[in-house]
Amino acid sequence: MAYGEFPDLDDAIARSTADAWEKVKGRVTPLEWALHAPLIAEINALKKQRDAVILAHNYMTPDIFHGVGDFVGDSLALAKEAARSEARVIVQAGVHFMAETSKILSPDKTVLIPDPLAGCSLAASITGADVRLIKQRYPGLPVVTYVNTTADVKAETDICCTSANAVQVVEWAAREWGVDRVILIPDEYLARNVAAQTDVKIIAWQGRCEVHERFDAADIAEMRQAYPGAEILAHPECPEEVLNAADFAGSTAAMADYVETRRPQQVVLITECSMAANVAGDVEGVEFIGPCNLCPHMKRITLTNIRDCLLNMQFEVTVPEDMAERARQAVQRMVDLPPPPVPARYDLVRARGHSVQVELI
Ligand code: 13P
Ligand code: SF4
Repeated sequence: MAYGEFPDLDDAIARSTADAWEKVKGRVTPLEWALHAPLIAEINALKKQRDAVILAHNYMTPDIFHGVGDFVGDSLALAKEAARSEARVIVQAGVHFMAETSKILSPDKTVLIPDPLAGCSLAASITGADVRLIKQRYPGLPVVTYVNTTADVKAETDICCTSANAVQVVEWAAREWGVDRVILIPDEYLARNVAAQTDVKIIAWQGRCEVHERFDAADIAEMRQAYPGAEILAHPECPEEVLNAADFAGSTAAMADYVETRRPQQVVLITECSMAANVAGDVEGVEFIGPCNLCPHMKRITLTNIRDCLLNMQFEVTVPEDMAERARQAVQRMVDLPPPPVPARYDLVRARGHSVQVELI
């Protein structure tokens, strides 16, 4: 029963992990898989015992993404899944703000994170007290907050957004409030990217994603020279110069969708490293080329700590109920909006002539 390179694998483990191996075998070595497969089988059995689902972000390593993730996707898809899941326990294979979002949307469920130190430089860049000061400075303007924030920031927010729907949410807020300016915090680069695609004026905070801010236009130029036929996709948390030089900008799900739909021969994903490995498991005939950067927070989540999380029911994520109630309104408003339109090509959007001006707080 054991497959190919793994003649010694126990029969039951081999049976339950064969499909996952097919997805990851170009990216994970047989030596690594011999260690991963028993853990994957153990985690999948524990999930049944605990009535748990694992929500895995696109930046999880391929062994987690393809081996144990029940629902995989971008921040928006995972938030929606947390709201509708019927399992008693949610294990967030992602970072802490994602687990808080799940708890906010599913207060009656037990939400666990395998490593509570899995943070985010954007979430760390702003506090609820900062948002209260911003509201004093700009009274009457709606506050749109990226989901990459803590619950106390969400509690001060009118509506949340993700990189998949930020333009749609900003335009919705401007319409609802009857204003031409919207506060969009805390990612400055996402704010600039949104400003390039709308006539709504954007007021931005100077937060950065430590993974995406490290890319620059020279990285793109090098890729263009070395691989002239490759299509270059970048995450909207990248600096403006990177997005201007890329062929397409979109959330992690939008990038995966682009590759699955258009099947470029060669593609560069300007984002976290695991993304290419995960998409490669789902599409054939596409060559993925670097560069990529690692998110040290996402990489805190491993098969071992997911197993321990389910074994010991640790580490539970809670949000004080009054804070959760105020934050829920902001997250739920986002979840209730219709799905965002298929993203336009960034360079064509720019060519329409929107001026990219943001006011920095
Ligand atoms: P999305 O999955 O929403 O594109 O977000 C990427 C990210 O950096 C999450 O931490
Ligand atoms: Fe935060 Fe950036 Fe890591 Fe996402 S990739 S969790 S935005 S630091």
